[in-house]
Amino acid sequence: MSLAMTSSVALTGLIGNLVEVEVDISDGLPGYVLLGLPDAALNESKDRVRAALINSGETWPNKKVTVSLSPAWLPKSGSGFDLPIAIALLMAQGLIPKDEATPTIYLGELSLDGQVRSIRGVLPSVLAAKNNGFARALVPFKNYAEAKCVFGINVIAINSLDDALRYLRTGEIPNSPEELERDETDYFLDLCDVAGQLGARKALEIAAIGGHHLLLIGPPGTGKTMLAERIPSILPPLDEESILEVTAIHSIAGTLLDRALLSKLPPFVSPHHTTTAPAMIGGGAHAIRPGATSLAHKGVLFIDEAPECARGVLDSLRQPLESGNLTISRAVGSVTYPARFMLVLAANPCPCGRFSGRGRSCTCTQVAIRRYLQRLSGPLLDRIDIRVFVDSPSRAEMASDQLGESSATVRNRVILARKIADQRFADCNWKLNSQIPPSELRKRFRAEKQGMNFLHTELDNERLSARGFHKVLRISWSIADSHGHQIPNRDDVEAAFRLREGMELMA
Ligand SMILES: Nc1ncnc2c1ncn2[C@@H]1O[C@H](COP(=O)(O)OP(=O)(O)OP(=O)(O)O)[C@@H](O)[C@H]1O
Ligand SMILES: [Mg+2]
Ligand SMILES: [Zn+2]
Repeated sequence: MSLAMTSSVALTGLIGNLVEVEVDISDGLPGYVLLGLPDAALNESKDRVRAALINSGETWPNKKVTVSLSPAWLPKSGSGFDLPIAIALLMAQGLIPKDEATPTIYLGELSLDGQVRSIRGVLPSVLAAKNNGFARALVPFKNYAEAKCVFGINVIAINSLDDALRYLRTGEIPNSPEELERDETDYFLDLCDVAGQLGARKALEIAAIGGHHLLLIGPPGTGKTMLAERIPSILPPLDEESILEVTAIHSIAGTLLDRALLSKLPPFVSPHHTTTAPAMIGGGAHAIRPGATSLAHKGVLFIDEAPECARGVLDSLRQPLESGNLTISRAVGSVTYPARFMLVLAANPCPCGRFSGRGRSCTCTQVAIRRYLQRLSGPLLDRIDIRVFVDSPSRAEMASDQLGESSATVRNRVILARKIADQRFADCNWKLNSQIPPSELRKRFRAEKQGMNFLHTELDNERLSARGFHKVLRISWSIADSHGHQIPNRDDVEAAFRLREGMELMA
């Protein structure tokens, strides 16, 4: 009997669990058994590993092979266990030395000719390995860059099984890809591209300061999408911890190519309005993948043409908006992904889209307009703090060769204002103005007396609902922070009221 063991990682959401791959080769009828809750892709590993070994000039034992992945109760998925299985098979036959001296983690899918293919989730896997005291990780060449994001573990990039075996036998380190420079200049889109739209710009800035969710309403072609796409460029850059977290989520989703690696730019995700609920919140039959809400974690989730979205899709946003994370349960188990994002919705003001503040050319009836926007109503709209009407820029604004304020200028103001809020909330368990709970708004976080009086009058006149009351207060804190006011004064509150009630159309 010969026995060997290697280590690998199985992911549950972002959490990496160590998996021990044991291989036993014993006399008996030739055969191959794989134990330990493998999914379909993993079950097919036998044929891949066998072909890869033979095509790399190694031997496949014509004996009884038992492969056990433990802990046995943990569901395991995907093809990333090919490499640790192949290595353990060779160790069990005494063809390569065991790795006890240097605890090593193996990740990678094998192709039939012995190449090592890239897999998803390498960053969180290597991170888990490091945290569990592993000193070395063998990862696919293409995943080298993300694996290198983890400090304190020796990462070896391998292109083929051959590479890995030569390294384990002789210590010859295969060529690694060139070290990637961290991309510090990832602000591609700049707010200075947008002509006019002073009101909307201000709203964006306040929303960025307080983390308020935002609704942009306006006729087609007025710059709603342009504005929304530029929000990440005015948000404070991600801190180191967030960078790793965001990169890890994108690693699992397989969307790392869409993002500069270790980008400090908050993500911007814009699912199409025909998207389905699983694509929005995550899911999948075998492995549970993060959806748009998690990909937008720490950034912006932008839904264009929001009234065209299926009702269930918008409603699926409620859980993440409430809790900042998302738990998805499937037959294979349940997984929680973080999902704390700034929601930005865009909508045309009416079915024909031409309704505008200047009131020209729209042919829709009042009822049709109301009904159109009511598709958004309900629990979701409840969470939107700021509504802005984005009208066409004027002729003068479009003709002017003066560029608007740049994102960097606005971003600096946002960072300053957030610092003030940070100090205020030092002893609280939230960080942003949009997160102040209602009870605290009534006790510690009231506006100046005059401001409160203004709100009470609006309440009396039924121009403000009780719900709106709290939202206006939260926004007025963000406005106060942007002006450096200690407490929101009457002007701040009135400005907040105008941002909240941005459009009279909304019931
Ligand atoms: N304020 C603006 N400043 C400069 N260019 C603008 C502005 N508004 C619109 N444009 C031009 O119009 C194009 C379309 O803008 P954008 O996609 O942002 O419109 P939209 O409001 O999202 O329209 P839709 O409702 O059709 O989605 C932009 O690519 C840009 O060339
Ligand atoms: Mg658009
Ligand atoms: Zn219309």
